Amino acid sequence: MPTLPVDDASSVTTPHPTVDVTTHVPVAIVGAGPAGLMLAHRLARAGVDSVAIDLRTRHEIETTQRAGILEADAARDLVETGVSDRILRDGHEHEGTDLRFDGRSHRIDFKALVGESVWLYPQTDVFIDLADARERDNGRVHFGVTAPEVLDTETTTPRLRFTADDGTRHEVRARFVVGADGSRSVCRDLVPAQHRTQYFREYPFAWFGILAQAPRSAPELVYAQSPDGFALISQRTDTVQRMYFQCDPDEATDAWPDERIWETLQARVAGGDGFTLAEGPVLEKTVLRFRSFVQDPMRWGSLVLAGDAAHTVPPTGARGLNLALHDVKVLADVLVRALGPEGDPALDDYQPQALRRVWRAQNFSWWMTQLLHTAPGATDFDLRRQVGELDNVVGTRAGRTYLAEQYTGWPTRGGDLT
Ligand code: DHB
Repeated sequence: MPTLPVDDASSVTTPHPTVDVTTHVPVAIVGAGPAGLMLAHRLARAGVDSVAIDLRTRHEIETTQRAGILEADAARDLVETGVSDRILRDGHEHEGTDLRFDGRSHRIDFKALVGESVWLYPQTDVFIDLADARERDNGRVHFGVTAPEVLDTETTTPRLRFTADDGTRHEVRARFVVGADGSRSVCRDLVPAQHRTQYFREYPFAWFGILAQAPRSAPELVYAQSPDGFALISQRTDTVQRMYFQCDPDEATDAWPDERIWETLQARVAGGDGFTLAEGPVLEKTVLRFRSFVQDPMRWGSLVLAGDAAHTVPPTGARGLNLALHDVKVLADVLVRALGPEGDPALDDYQPQALRRVWRAQNFSWWMTQLLHTAPGATDFDLRRQVGELDNVVGTRAGRTYLAEQYTGWPTRGGDLT
């Protein structure tokens, strides 16, 4: 274990007129979603204290539906780092997935092809486990803060200021600030415009997501392509299912009564094999717009970005949460080294390790998206070509293996990504 600088981790009242409580910690974390909390958890295991803040209340984060697939490595990490083993009881291991087109399903057998699987375990549950673990371990997390300010990130004494939910005004003095504040990150804009590149791609469609009270329609996930557009049949529990279908980015949820939703979903998965979806009352409807985004650099001065704050991917293929968890795995190690005798140069290892996977995942998410969605104005040629590509994926061992390998994730160290 490296020697850490001695920090006064206790809270002291200061005479500063606008600050009630000043706290000194090595790392301040903006954003207490899965990336921020997993980073705090990993740092705590290495003896490094942190404070994490989030504008949202814990209840808001817990009740916002997000993706549902964890790579095997990410699932193992939750258990092995002592967050929780609930995933082993409440999660579902999926050894494959179905690609459906031309009215037929084609199973991609991950286990047989690459010896890996994924876990269906919603992001909301990952968050609950992490938030519970922080509470259990007396970690400092402030949900529902207001008036946050991130200051002095170009110096070696960055600060956070915020008002806690009880009205007290806090200042956190840190050595590093991590921006894990999601796809609408304010931290990312603290990298001066002339020193950053923001790569992005917009898509001319969105996902209409529903939660429905119904039994499962299939044992694993079904990714369906049809001339009318994409549909994804996912799951939550024995009685609640999660499904998505491609829609216009400006679609209004009010225009979609249950009947119209089911008609659309059934048409997207219909085929000669008679596959149909088990229907039930729709409990929740949301339109999810998406885009591909990467910011380079992921570090500026004492500020480091992680997860969606630095990069977002389209949801197809469920890479987002997995990438964020990978970022903080690399970042926790690097921060511990940087706080020890190695100092700042250790931080130089973060971006190359994180970004390589980010661009691979950007490619995979973009590829899965174009493989399965129907672009507005697609010609007959485009649609037939797309089916040709799908056929190349399911009809060749190389194609199936490519999908299986990308979908189940890449190892952090070892394997092909070193
Ligand atoms: C889910 C979301 C995804 O984007 C995906 O690719 C698979 C599953 C989900 O919410 O269950």
